[in-house]
Amino acid sequence: MIFLEVLLFILGVALFTVTLSSIIGVPFLPTHHKQARAMMEFAALRPGLRVVDLGSGAGRLLFLAAERGADAVGYELNPVLYFWTLLVIKLKGLSGRVSVRCQSLYQADLSGADVVFAFLFPKPMAKLAPKLFTEMKPGATIISYAFSIPGHTPIKKEQGIFVYKV
Ligand SMILES: C[S@@+](CC[C@H](N)C(=O)[O-])C[C@H]1O[C@@H](n2cnc3c(N)ncnc32)[C@H](O)[C@@H]1O
Repeated sequence: MIFLEVLLFILGVALFTVTLSSIIGVPFLPTHHKQARAMMEFAALRPGLRVVDLGSGAGRLLFLAAERGADAVGYELNPVLYFWTLLVIKLKGLSGRVSVRCQSLYQADLSGADVVFAFLFPKPMAKLAPKLFTEMKPGATIISYAFSIPGHTPIKKEQGIFVYKV
């Protein structure tokens, strides 16, 4: 009986989290493990690089980037996912290298980013495009999973991952 109650509670939290992200703009769906690892390869991450994940969800891309030595910042408006990421940062002892902000991704500071990751929808990608290409420094990399950036040609497209250079 207690097992059923715990299961229902977990399902309730998961449903609430996905619904809340949908209301914010994009439902919460973590990038698949295989594609997440490919995104790290395409970004050629190394220690010292600065990574931003726009809509960082539960932080999967942030933690993979940190494993490769990069410094990672996530922007996530869903409070459940924001606090979950904060907790995992603490548990993994990554406070100096990974951070998350409960702030709209449209307000993200992209000026210092070497790599920006995004897994959003077509509309937010179109809205983000001018910000990405004006705020990011020349030579920086944008990696979008599942959706392209309208009006821009990727330098690479593989496994549903679009890679752009500013
Ligand atoms: C498809 S998930 C991607 C999660 C993560 N980047 C990953 O690849 O595993 C999109 C996330 O963007 C967040 N999001 C949507 N609109 C946002 C906004 N305006 N500001 C911040 N986060 C947003 C949602 O809450 C959701 O967690």
